[in-house]
Amino acid sequence: MVFVFLGPPGSGKGTQAKILQQNKSFVHLSTGDMLRSAVSEGSELGKRVKSIMEQGLLVSDDIVLDLIRDQIKRHKSAPGIILDGYPRNVAQARALDGVLKSENISLTSVLSFNVDEALLVERIVGRRSCPKCGASYHIKFNPPKRSGVCDHCGFAGVFTHRTDDTEVVIRGRLKVYNDQTSALKSYYGDMDRLIDVEADLPPKAVTNKISEAIGLTP
Ligand code: AP5
Repeated sequence: MVFVFLGPPGSGKGTQAKILQQNKSFVHLSTGDMLRSAVSEGSELGKRVKSIMEQGLLVSDDIVLDLIRDQIKRHKSAPGIILDGYPRNVAQARALDGVLKSENISLTSVLSFNVDEALLVERIVGRRSCPKCGASYHIKFNPPKRSGVCDHCGFAGVFTHRTDDTEVVIRGRLKVYNDQTSALKSYYGDMDRLIDVEADLPPKAVTNKISEAIGLTP
C-alpha cells in the first residue's frame, strides 16, 4: 500500500506518518527530512538546497525525484509506504505515477490534511524537535513530559527550532502550497484517490480519522 500525505506545512503529516510507522510498521518517506539530513551532513546536495529551503521555496523536481525513487524501490515490499511532502506539484505527481508504474505498484490513496491557516502558523512557530533522536514536539500542543527532556531518548538540553519555522518564512511556505501544491487535490480527485481528513483535531483524534478512512484498526 502506498499513501500520499498531502497538506500544508504544519497540518500534521509528519506527526501522523510517525504514528503509523510505529503502530503499523509503515515506512515513512519524508523528502523534507531527507533534504534536512543532506544539509546537516554538509553534502554537495545539502549545499545546493540549503538556501532554497531556508527561503521556504521548492527545490528542483529532479532532486526530489532521485531521492524518492530510490527509497520507493528499496521499500516496495513493506506493509505500507507513506510519502510525506511528495509530490508537491503536478510535475512531481506525474513523475511519481511513472515510478509507481515502473515498479508495478498502485497508489492506494491520497490523504488531504485540512487545517485552518491561523492554526497552521501557531503549530509551526511552536514546533521543536529533539536534536538527538528527531522526536517532534510543540511548546503548547505537545510538550515533553519533563521540560527540556526528550520523552523518547532522554536527551536533556535545548531543542531544535527549524530555520524555516519563522513566521515570515511560514507565510511564504503557505503561499507556495496554495500556488503549487493544492492543485494536487483536483489531480488526485480526478483519479478518485483523494480522501479528506479533518486534521484540526487533537493528534489522537486525527489518527482515528485516518485509520477509519484507510480501513485500519487505530
Ligand atoms: P517539509 O519538511 O516537507 O515541510 P512541510 O511540508 O512544510 O511540512 P511540515 O514538516 O512543516 O509540517 P507537517 O505537516 O509535517 O507538520 P508536523 O506533523 O511536523 O519540507 C521542508 C522544505 O523542504 C520545503 O519548504 C522545501 O524547500 C523542501 N521540500 C520538501 N519536499 C519537497 C518536494 N517534494 N519538492 C520540493 N521541495 C521540497 O506538525 C507541526 C507541529 O504541529 C508540530 O509541533 C506538532 O507537534 C504539532 N501538531 C501536529 N499535529 C497536531 C494536532 N493534531 N494538534 C495539535 N498540534 C499538532
